[in-house]
Order: sequence, then structure tokens, then C-alpha cells
Amino acid sequence: MKGFSSRSLGLRLGVVVAVVALLGLAWGLTYYLRTKPVAPTSSKFQGSIPNNHLMPNAGGEAATFSIQGSVNLTGEYFQIQGTNGQSCASCHIPEEAWNITPGTLQRLFDETDGTHPVFSPLDANNPSMDVSTAKARRTAYSMLLTRGVFRRGGAPRPNSEWELIAVDDPHGFANVNQLVHWRRSMPTINFAVGSATVNWDAGSNVGKGQRAALANLTNRLVTGALQGQPPTAEVVEDIVGFEESLWTAQLTVPDVGRLDSDGARGGPQALSTMSKAEGRFDLFDAWTGNANPKRAQIVRGQEVFNSTNVSHLSCGVCHNSANNGTNINNTLFDINTASVEARAPDLPLYTFRNKQTGTTRQLTDAGLGNITGRWDDLGRFKTPTLRALSARAPYFHNGIAATLEDVVRHYEKHFGFIFTDEERAALVAFLNAL
Ligand code: HEC
Ligand code: HEC
Repeated sequence: MKGFSSRSLGLRLGVVVAVVALLGLAWGLTYYLRTKPVAPTSSKFQGSIPNNHLMPNAGGEAATFSIQGSVNLTGEYFQIQGTNGQSCASCHIPEEAWNITPGTLQRLFDETDGTHPVFSPLDANNPSMDVSTAKARRTAYSMLLTRGVFRRGGAPRPNSEWELIAVDDPHGFANVNQLVHWRRSMPTINFAVGSATVNWDAGSNVGKGQRAALANLTNRLVTGALQGQPPTAEVVEDIVGFEESLWTAQLTVPDVGRLDSDGARGGPQALSTMSKAEGRFDLFDAWTGNANPKRAQIVRGQEVFNSTNVSHLSCGVCHNSANNGTNINNTLFDINTASVEARAPDLPLYTFRNKQTGTTRQLTDAGLGNITGRWDDLGRFKTPTLRALSARAPYFHNGIAATLEDVVRHYEKHFGFIFTDEERAALVAFLNAL
């Protein structure tokens, strides 16, 4: 007789238990997936990006080359580190040379009505502004949306050679006890050939070299802007190691082709084989006399950049780390980007007085002067990398130059360079190919 043996009963029970367990697992997984925090990156890429993957920008295409074989987008750099939902990749994204442009910020705003974590009250025009409706948020984040600048600053440095005696802030937040500094994000790239200075004002250095400054910045950011607990040493190491692995540069330009073809050494992979040295830009030497007029123009722009201008000034004197453009001696310069003359109406204006001489000076940003407290350091900024420029407009610490042509015109109007139309166009073509 066929009957229930205890063995087959056990088997059936086992199957039922397994099915229930599987259902529970499936439910748990859907629940987890549904409640998992939204990836805090502002990037469209997930997982990893192959080396030299072309990413379009206004001047062609840029790419990143990682010495780790591909760009891994799952490390600590991409994780929420604090309580405000931001990661490093909220403001540093691969498609924009690890910076972020106003165009992307506008897109993120439109997609989320301004609730994406990149919009934090810490970066609102004034922290007391209403951010309760989409309309209010659009007004409160206008500095981010129009110029891609984040609100930095703090108390004026005590025991400085200067004192802050007057403030005109169109957003009504800064005062003599509270500096507001509007700053563009910076590309976290090319550090192996870069200067030791970290931040527009060297604020993360304070006597530290590049690696210690990068670690210091991560520690300060996680507990500061990201509003989190101090990160572990492993987290800091993971983030700094990731930053150090990134090489980013323009790789193609329309009608020019690959910038690393026919002997030229543009693009990120060629850069990754170079070492830190003082010297001229020589990326396009092999294209000298090239029949392609666009290539010839880039070569000409490189020459304009490297040589002494009729004004006796030279771009390459300050941007003197070979083929990268930071300053090899880590020097910060004042190129009048924070001057009254170059002031955009939405920037604050500060009047500083020299305690010893009584001389006054008006600036929109104290720069290095608020880090060191020195009078001569007011208005000085880091000499930044010039690679992958086309992916990350607008330019300068405060985003006052919308295009590369505006950058060159700034040097003409506010710094004494004199260019012919031909030289200016060549210089722009060269900068666009970096
Ligand atoms: C809310 C936007 C935002 C987030 C989030 C953010 N950054 Fe930045 N980052 C900036 C801005 C703005 C600057 C320029 C600030 C300055 O120097 O005044 C900057 C500058 C930097 C620099 C200096 C680069 C140089 O060449 O000197 C590094 C490195 C950096 N960030 C790394 C990080 C890391 C690592 C994280 C995550 C822990 C992070 N950032 C998160 C906006 C952001
Ligand atoms: C006296 C030193 C000095 C000279 C000369 C100089 N630069 Fe600069 N450059 C700087 C500094 C410092 C900055 C950053 C200033 C700021 O953001 O406020 C800068 C910024 C830039 C930027 C913007 C980079 C960014 O990430 O926003 C470009 C592009 C640039 N310079 C190109 C040039 C060209 C082209 C010339 C020659 C016409 C030139 N520079 C001459 C020191 C100099």
C-alpha cells in the first residue's frame, strides 16, 4: 500500500519551509531595495566606468583614466558620509571632470524640485531663507543654480594683520564677524602632478603636504559640510586613494580628433605617465606645422601660453607645473579675481583695514589672507590644474568667467595681458584641448 511514510512527510514539510523562506527572502530584498537610500551621487554613472570612456562637454569629449584599471564608483567617495544625504560625488562628478556645473545643478533641481541632497541649506544664499516650497528653494539656491558656487567662509581669522571693517552682502548674511566666500567646487584630479596646495585658499594645508591636506579635508568635510561623525582612518584612506587614482583631461575635440594621436600627448592616459616637474606645456609639439588648421591653432595657442606676452607677463610663469598647470612651488597668486573691478553684483564686498598702516582694501573674498592672517595674502588663490577645463565651466574660484574666452579677457582687462584677436582665439583653442 502506498501511504505516508514519515520520510516523504518530512520531504514535503521541507519543501514548504523552503518556499516560505524563499518568499520571505524575496520580500526582504524588495523591501531593502525600496528603502535603500537614493544614491547620493549627482552623476548618471553607476558601478564603474571603463578607462578613457568619452564624456561629452562643450568643447568635445573628456575622459578619466584610473591607475586602478577602471573607475570604481562604489568606494567611500560615493557613500553618504554624514546626515545630510551628500557624498563627495554630490559635488564632484565624473562627467564634469569631478567638478559640477550650474547646468547639472539646474537639471538636478528640475528633476527633484530642489530636494536632491546637493541642495543643502548650508549652501543657500542665506541659511535663514525659506526652503519649504520648490519656488522658495529656487530663490534660496540661486547662487548654486546660476554660477555653481557653494557657500563657504566663517569667522574672520583672529589675530590677523588686518581687520574687517565693513561688509556689503547682497544676500544679507555676511557681517564683520562672518565672512561668506562663494566658491566653485574643484576637480579632484591629477594630484600626482599637482601642487601640494589643497583648496582655493589652501585651507586644508596649514603646514601640511598634499596627502595630509587631502586627508585633513576629508576629515573636516565629513564632520562639517556633510554633518557626520568623524570618519575612520580606513574611510579617509579609501577616499584619498581614490582621488589620487584619477587622471582626467580632454581627449577629443571636433575637427581635431584624438588629442593623443599623431605624436600629440593630450588626454588622461598620456598624462598618467608623466611626472611632476617644472616646465612648459609640450603636449602638442608633434603637431607643429600640421596641415589641419585646427591642430595648428592649438599648437599656436600652446606657444602663446608658454611665451612672454608683449606686456612682459606670461601664463606659464605661474602655471608652471609641466602639462598640468598648477604651481610647482605651491604658490597662491592674486590675479584680481576678487577685486572690486571684477565683482559680480551677487557677490559680497568686504573692506579690510591693515592694522599697522591703516590702508584699506576692498575684496569679494579674503582668499589665503583668512587662512594665514597676513595682509599680503588677501585675495590670493590656488593656481589650479588647467586640465579638462571644457568639462567644468564656469571658471575661477567664484565662477565669474562663464567661458574660456571670458577667462582670457579677464587676464586682459584685469591683469595687464595684451592679446591680438588671433592670439586670444588660439589660446582658447589650446585651453579647450587640455
Ligand atoms: C556640497 C558640495 C561638496 C561636497 C559634498 C564635497 N565637496 Fe569637495 N569641494 C567643494 C567645494 C565648493 C570646494 C572648493 C572649496 C574651497 O576651496 O573653498 C571643494 C574642494 C575640494 C577639494 C580640493 C581640490 C584641490 O585641488 O585643491 C578636494 C580634494 C575635495 N573637494 C574633495 C572632496 C571629498 C573627498 C568630498 C567627500 C568627503 C567632497 N569633496 C565633498 C564642494 C563639495
Ligand atoms: C600671476 C600668476 C598667474 C598668471 C600670470 C596666470 N594665471 Fe591663470 N590662474 C592663476 C590663479 C591664482 C588662478 C586661480 C584664481 C582664482 O580662481 O581666483 C588661475 C586660474 C586660471 C584658470 C581657471 C581655472 C579654473 O579651474 O577655474 C585658467 C583657465 C587660467 N588661469 C589660465 C591662464 C592663462 C591662459 C594665463 C595667461 C593669459 C594665465 N592663466 C596667467 C594664476 C595665474
